[in-house]
Amino acid sequence: MKPAKRTMDIEYAIRDVVLPARELEKKGIEIIKLNIGDPDKFDFDTPEHMKKAVIDEMKNFNGYGDSEGLLELREAIVQREKKKNNLDISVNDIVVTTGVTESIQMLFGALLDPGDEILVPGPTYPPYIALAKFFGAVPVPYRTIEEENWAPDLDDMRKKINEKTKAVAVINPNNPTGALYDKKTLKEIGNIAAENDIIFISDEIYDMITYEGKHFSPSFMEDIPLIILNGISKVYLSPGWRVGWTIFRDYNEKLNEIREGYLKQARVRICSNILTQKGAVAALNGPQDHIKDMIAKLRERRDYIYKRLNDINGVSTQKPGGAFYIFPKIDGDDKKFVLDVLNKVHVLFVHGSGFCPVYGKGHFRSVFLPPIETIERAMDALEMYMKK
Ligand SMILES: Cc1ncc(COP(=O)(O)O)c(C=O)c1O
Repeated sequence: MKPAKRTMDIEYAIRDVVLPARELEKKGIEIIKLNIGDPDKFDFDTPEHMKKAVIDEMKNFNGYGDSEGLLELREAIVQREKKKNNLDISVNDIVVTTGVTESIQMLFGALLDPGDEILVPGPTYPPYIALAKFFGAVPVPYRTIEEENWAPDLDDMRKKINEKTKAVAVINPNNPTGALYDKKTLKEIGNIAAENDIIFISDEIYDMITYEGKHFSPSFMEDIPLIILNGISKVYLSPGWRVGWTIFRDYNEKLNEIREGYLKQARVRICSNILTQKGAVAALNGPQDHIKDMIAKLRERRDYIYKRLNDINGVSTQKPGGAFYIFPKIDGDDKKFVLDVLNKVHVLFVHGSGFCPVYGKGHFRSVFLPPIETIERAMDALEMYMKK
């Protein structure tokens, strides 16, 4: 029996490399895993007041909730967006999802017909490619320029727009490059979207995790239809809770039908997890102290890995401005490199081509989430491998 063709092409590089690593682990070999962007796998933990909110709700109510998400959570999101981005939205502009990944899935389900095109960052978080293809659409990567700290190549973006292009997706701060875009860059992308009447999709899941600069949401441009994706996985250290949301910011009411298509999908999947939505309310309304601590730890780790990588012969890298990824350059086939490093010195990275076959190749992605001692062991091992 054959599966549906749409499943044949699905790839998720970040998890695909786990299988060969598991084989080694079965043989009793310890692997340093720098492949997955999950802070809770290292010395970060979900704040206690969030956990308490989930436990309290479990004792209180375990029924279904509204498909759009808990009103209380949507109210907290409205307030957060007003405070952080001076964004004026109402609870009706928000749909809570089972993580941003589900936001992308339902958004693409509502937006993309077979043959439609969507501009995605090159390189990008892999579901932007996999889910566009799943719906028969064509993800078109726009170049980001390594030498300019992975800023989007606006000319390339312009060239790749045609009558089939529905939207441009921007991930800021970026996964996998760690790039943080300035306001001017966002404005220029906004202008391109406006000139071509396409939607600006802004993935802001790492918005509070920045090192030198500040994160800007494109919401300061009021005349473009904007869809913002965000959630608690990263900033609130709870990826396993699976809470995200989609915001339709649409002052000119251009997105009404797409929003309705999105809501229909939200209704058929009933609702996202009610208990962890309560945890997300606590996250947004409660103390924010953990963010400062997290950034202080991550900044130290970023500075360390950045220096170590650039000191290794045959490896060079830009300095990430946000998120917790670094995307160094190497010579040759990146997938072979990643598998060889795994097999020979037992460190697991992700091959760059898994984030974009064109603009990711010849690179690999590492997280810098673990304590310095672990990163040090990984860098010593990589250095030894490169010397050999
Ligand atoms: C850019 C980006 N968007 C979305 C996600 C997934 O978020 P969630 O856990 O909310 O599905 C990730 C996870 O790594 C990501 O890097």
